[in-house]
Parts: sequence; C-alpha cells; structure tokens
Amino acid sequence: MKRFLLTELPIKNKTIFLRVDYNVPFSEGKIIDNTKIKASLPTIRYLLQNNCKIILATHFGRPKGFSTEYSVKPLVKELQKLLPTRRIVKLNDCLGKKVLETIRQGKPQTIFMLENLRFYPEEEKNDSFFAHSLANLAELYVNDAFGVAHRKHASVCAITEFLPSAPGLLLETEIRSLSQALNPEKPSVWIMGGAKLDKIALLERALKKYDYVLIGGALAFSFLKAKGIPVGASKTDAASNEVARKILNSKYASKIVLPVDFAVAETFSPRAKVSTVEYNQIQPHQVALDLGTKTIALFRKYLSSAKTIVWNGPLGYVEWAQFAVSTKEIARFLGKMEDSITIVGGGETAEAILKFHLHHKLTHVSTGGGAALEFLAEGDLPALQCLEKNYQKFRKRIPVVKQAN
Ligand code: 3PG
Repeated sequence: MKRFLLTELPIKNKTIFLRVDYNVPFSEGKIIDNTKIKASLPTIRYLLQNNCKIILATHFGRPKGFSTEYSVKPLVKELQKLLPTRRIVKLNDCLGKKVLETIRQGKPQTIFMLENLRFYPEEEKNDSFFAHSLANLAELYVNDAFGVAHRKHASVCAITEFLPSAPGLLLETEIRSLSQALNPEKPSVWIMGGAKLDKIALLERALKKYDYVLIGGALAFSFLKAKGIPVGASKTDAASNEVARKILNSKYASKIVLPVDFAVAETFSPRAKVSTVEYNQIQPHQVALDLGTKTIALFRKYLSSAKTIVWNGPLGYVEWAQFAVSTKEIARFLGKMEDSITIVGGGETAEAILKFHLHHKLTHVSTGGGAALEFLAEGDLPALQCLEKNYQKFRKRIPVVKQAN
C-alpha cells in the first residue's frame, strides 16, 4: 500500500498541521520522561528548514472536557527547552477565529501549539466536522504521532479527508523498524511479559511466526495455573488462565518456554525479604514478583542464537528495583547481541529500558505502547490506512516533489 512520503509533499513555505504524541508520563507537575517529545524533533527541524509554520497538536492524558490539569502548558515548556532558539506560541484552544488569526498572522518558522485535542469529545469520535475545523488551520497534514496510530480519532484519521497528508519521520521509522518483526529472520524468539494475556492476536502471531515464546511477568502464573501448579498469592485473572490452558492444549504448546524459578516475597512491599524458589514450590503466603536466576540463564540460552527478538511486557515487578532484576539482565543481554534484530514494543517495557539507559543498544525501542502491539499483531494501523486513502485521493491533485536518485 502506498502513502505520500514527507519528502514528496510540497511543504516549502507552507503551514503544516503536525500531529504528535506528547502524551508523556507526568507526575506532580513534572514530565518524567520526555522521549516522545525528543522523538518528534527531526520532523520539526525538517519542517523549519523548509520555512514552514508548524501547528503542533497532541492529546495529553484522558481529560473529561476542558481542565487546566491536562493543559499542554508543561509540554510547551519542555519543547522550548529542547528548541531554545525557536519561537513557540502556546494557543489557548484548538479551534476558533482567534486561533486561526494568530496562526495566519504568525511568521514562517513559528511553532504554534494547540491546546489538548481531547478537551473536545469530537476528537475521540473521529468527528468529521471537528477534523475539518482543524484542517482549516493548515495547508498540509503530517502525522508523527505513532503512539496514537491505533486510534481512529479526528486528528489521526478524519483530518486526512481534507488535506494532503504524509507520515512524519518518526512514524516512518517506527513502521520500518517494527516491520522487521513481522517476518522474522530465524531463529526467532518473542519475549512476552506483563500482566495479562489480553492480546490474543499478538500471542497468535508470536506463536505462528516465532520459534519460541518466552513467558515472563504475571502471565507466567496463568500458564502454571493451567498446568495445575500452585502460584501462591501471585495474581492471575480467569480470562488469562483460560487462554493459557487453550495454548497448552494446542499444537503450539512446544513453543512456550516457562520460568523454572521465581524471586518471591512474603508481603507485597518494596522492602520485602526476597528468596528464590523453584517454579512449583511457591507457598500459599508467597507472591512471586520476578524471575529467578535459573530462568534468566534459561532465557539467555534461547536468546543467544536468535536472529530476531521481539519483547513486550516487563518480566517482573519493575516498579520496585529489587524485582527489576530479570528485566534488566535480559535487556543487558540483548544490548550485547549486536548482530541480531532486537525490538521492544513500547509501553512499560520501553520505560524500563530507558530507565536502565539501554535503549540505544537495541535495534528499536518503540515510542508507542498499544500502537506498537497492534502493529506487531495486525501488521497495519488505522492511521496508516487513512494515509493510504489520502494518497489515493490526492495523488493526482498535488505537485509531488520528485526525489533525486
Ligand atoms: C499512549 O500513551 O499510549 C498513547 O499516547 C495513546 O494514549 P491513549 O491510550 O490514551 O489513547
């Protein structure tokens, strides 16, 4: 399927609506991790070099209507820190005469930041009228919001009905990198952690396409339970246990690699006393919070010959350092596998890897959580489908910039 490339759009001197995902982790008035903001800089710089005016738009959190708590103000401040010499103007709304006039009167190379798109319920409803009002602010549309590419929202999808559109440099990089996981070079291993087996499509793809699926995190307990092995006070949910049972009775059962030991605590606390037990020796009062050393060694054995490795979901309770050991060890191990493709699918796993400062050692750490998992499972995303439709609609109507060979 074809879509415009950013370098093909006639962007010179134009006003560009640039959808980004600045939905960053935020607590007590502080941005905890600015990775997503930094990741948008190459596209912003490219547009500025082409003398564009940029209208930046993002969602931030899940507000119910207008609220100062979810204002984009701290995001603008952070962007200004990253681009100290650039003029960034924060607007107080996403729409309206005042917004339109301020943008029209602004100089080229100014960055205007709209208020939180989700202050309008129309955004999540993919409302055409709302999208048309957003489109009316600009001449071209660029989507660099990979993290929200799985959402059929107005600023992601409906807006592409009105303006010639292209993916930004981040979105292109994400798709190119994650695509390497769709048809893996063998031997291939998928590491699946996290809490729930709620991503059935993802698990099916992993089992169909990959040689082995290593199971960590709380979902290991669902598999143990399905085998009739007690998991003590460790948490499982009924739906995940049922999925695990089906898999263990399927032709894919031999691809599943389960932990052989766990780090357990007697209380659910960051200062709890930790011991290691065999997988079938978790006592009723114990809660398993990380993989044990034998499991780390077992996982390394499977990983050491792999050519393609995908990883989603932390292997232990990474919020507390003493239970982040297996996640950190496996991340370090992957960091040394320079000849293999190592891909981490966003969300909590990416956050942990960033915290360990290991992200630059892996082939790709996605900026998207749900979006990365949906792309890995389906091989497609609503945002991409909309960009493809847009190409069909506008390809004969705009003067595409020819690429020099
Ligand atoms: C994310 O942080 O995963 C994206 O920004 C999507 O956010 P959402 O789950 O609120 O749509």
